Amino acid sequence: MLTDVKNVRVLVVGGAGYIGSHVQKQLLEEGFQVVVFDNLSTGDKINLLKGAAFIEGNILDKQALNDAMSQNIDAVVHLAAKKAVGESMEHPEIYAENNITGALNILNAMVANGVKHIVFSSSAAVYGMPEYIPLNEKHQIKPINYYGYTKICIEQNMDWYAKLGKLNYAALRYFNAVGYAADKSITGRERNPQNLLPIIMEVATGKREKLSIFGNDYDTPDGTCVRDYIHVSDLATAHTLALRYLMTDHQSFAVNLGTGNGTSVKEMVDATEKVIGKKLNYDYAPRRAGDPAELTADASLAREILGWKPRYTDVEEIIRTVWNLEI
Ligand code: UD1
Repeated sequence: MLTDVKNVRVLVVGGAGYIGSHVQKQLLEEGFQVVVFDNLSTGDKINLLKGAAFIEGNILDKQALNDAMSQNIDAVVHLAAKKAVGESMEHPEIYAENNITGALNILNAMVANGVKHIVFSSSAAVYGMPEYIPLNEKHQIKPINYYGYTKICIEQNMDWYAKLGKLNYAALRYFNAVGYAADKSITGRERNPQNLLPIIMEVATGKREKLSIFGNDYDTPDGTCVRDYIHVSDLATAHTLALRYLMTDHQSFAVNLGTGNGTSVKEMVDATEKVIGKKLNYDYAPRRAGDPAELTADASLAREILGWKPRYTDVEEIIRTVWNLEI
């Protein structure tokens, strides 16, 4: 693996967002040079860390991407995408433009400027309904929502570009990203969150009246859906490991990133109540369309290829990293 990184200049597209800001932090801490490219549509300037250069730009703007890529960039981490599964089914055109056209613009700007390495934010949503769990990378790829389709579409394009000798890539298939950096250095919260833990936190802080748990009649121990919650700082570490690997081994790959542990929605609520020391207001609502009962990762390939191992395995500890920002 690459050890001397001080001359490696990384363009972090979407670096002001939730996961991007943690990746930015990890890169800076390891001594990489960092340039953040972000249109601040969901990201926030508050997430730009000392030491990172910033370009305000849109991935639909080919010229802006070309200009950014021509600044001696060695590698790209691409995390600028829309991620609301429900919205992707109502407005596929928005997802086609942002997640597909935008990503292809990035790949093409890389090719035009001879940038050879990309780490791409992919998702467990590429697999669709699990046929078995934990899911490994051999599971069939059959997304059941348009969001998941946009992810596999870009993975396949990267695969072609790699076969054609244009670049090499790492596709990181995240399971459920949660938590914040434990040192509280990232403070920008997502606006209008759609995911479970940010919603729970809004209930905990009184910003939202109650949580609706979508379904309590699943074939799981307590009837609520089970997911694999992975701490965002562990995800961030996987990005720098992937980058180091790509820059030495020049082999493209796709890996799952999860802990392998399943936690139900009800267990997340219970764990949060323990952490915050009070009851949460919640009720049970009908199932949400397209939710698999259970989704956990077999991340042994990431361990094998990258030596990656999540540090956070306890959901209470993970939740505490979010709650600590509130108190
Ligand atoms: C989905 C995608 C994932 C994507 C992520 C980004 C799938 C299978 N997974 O994760 O790839 O990266 O969105 O947004 O498509 N829940 C409630 N009440 C709420 C909100 C959520 O009960 O108000 C439940 C859901 O039903 C689910 C769990 O909490 O069981 C987690 O939901 P969420 O945070 O939205 O993530 P996923 O849908 O698992």
